[in-house]
Amino acid sequence: MEKKNVSGFSKLNKTDKIKWLAQNFLYSNPIDVVKDFAEYWHDNIEEQKIFDGFSENTISNFHMPFGVAPNFLIDGKDYAIPMVTEESSVVAAASNAAKFWYNKGGFKTTINNSVKIGQVHFTYPGSEEKLEEFFPELKSKLIEGVKAITANMEKRGGGILDIELLNFTDKEKDLFQLKCSFETVDSMGANFINSCLEAFGNILVDEIQLSTAFTLKEKNVKVIMCILSNLTPDCTVTASVSCSVKDLGTFQNGLMHAEEFAEKFTQAVRIAEVDPYRATTHNKGIMNGIDSVIIATGNDFRAVEACAHAYAAITGEYKSLTHAEVKDDIFTFSITIPLALGTVGGLTGLHPLAKKSMEIMGQPNAHQLMSIVACVGLAQNFGAVRALTTSGIQAGHMKMHLNNILSQFQATEQEIEKAVAYFNDKVISVSSVRAFVMGLRVV
Ligand code: MEV
Repeated sequence: MEKKNVSGFSKLNKTDKIKWLAQNFLYSNPIDVVKDFAEYWHDNIEEQKIFDGFSENTISNFHMPFGVAPNFLIDGKDYAIPMVTEESSVVAAASNAAKFWYNKGGFKTTINNSVKIGQVHFTYPGSEEKLEEFFPELKSKLIEGVKAITANMEKRGGGILDIELLNFTDKEKDLFQLKCSFETVDSMGANFINSCLEAFGNILVDEIQLSTAFTLKEKNVKVIMCILSNLTPDCTVTASVSCSVKDLGTFQNGLMHAEEFAEKFTQAVRIAEVDPYRATTHNKGIMNGIDSVIIATGNDFRAVEACAHAYAAITGEYKSLTHAEVKDDIFTFSITIPLALGTVGGLTGLHPLAKKSMEIMGQPNAHQLMSIVACVGLAQNFGAVRALTTSGIQAGHMKMHLNNILSQFQATEQEIEKAVAYFNDKVISVSSVRAFVMGLRVV
């Protein structure tokens, strides 16, 4: 078989990278393939350089829709929220839910804490007591040894909060850990934390080598790795909405009353608290909203996703991130979620549209952004569970998806207009839309 490995690919210019792809993987005319990819290059070379700088081996830009969900009232302040997502109905559902709650007091939020975690994993082949005894002295050396790194963060109100020594020897031979907690204020803090941790790793080895308390064997400390943890259970925000049950109004053209809705809705959320299969879909719906704001602000959606799902399983059972209840005739719906976000540094300050997103939201600080993001997650979940427990999800979802199906059949503007009117009260599926469009074309 012909080998297709390559060296020096990263050094090729964009056009040559595409030509190589065309010859080796697309088997198409390289000139046509270059044209296909170049169509999505930024007109402005300087702007394109910014995008290329975010990654490696870039050959083009991958466009995603940038939408806005208005009518969010959060802690008494109005917001229009930028959302980047490719899934139809996400932005519409968030906007509808926001509007629903706008006249009922909107969303209320509380930042519970904002601690970030980093770990130095190391092996120490010696007496545990000796290490524990040495730890207080080591801890002050660790903190002192990274002053050059922490000085600026301390000026901004952050820094190292604590360092603990954890013993994992019952799980893995000789394994210990420095579990470090940090406050990183308005930055996500990954670079700051990892720099501190790598310095801690070196100091740890040096201090044990220098100490006379340890034997030669015990001095054989090995740092396995130093890295932040994306699990931040002490960096959480709670967002909630509430109103009297009767103020929920009626649903399904008056066919479903507020009491029935509240009962069905709270039960649907409880199902996601007892069944991980439902909880996964339920939480996925929450993340539909959360990820889209995270992406719009240039934050790390993989970190947020990993943390949210780990937190959902923190009791040992994977559960819903939201909770709903009716108490004394008051319907309350809330979410508590860890969100390690940044509003300074990283992509937020570099991506031109992430900068615009921050501007649209009035330049929130990290805590404010945590609040906004949690509210979007809650709104998204409200919209999904409301649809699921009333009309069903497909009615709204397929209505939004109609445009995608129509563009699949290269529908003209006239055909789109006719299809939208026709499918207003009909079941939408790829085959029903195809039949309708083909029908129009035959006539
Ligand atoms: C689809 O992307 C999200 C939903 O499945 C969420 C849910 O079921 O709660 C609608």
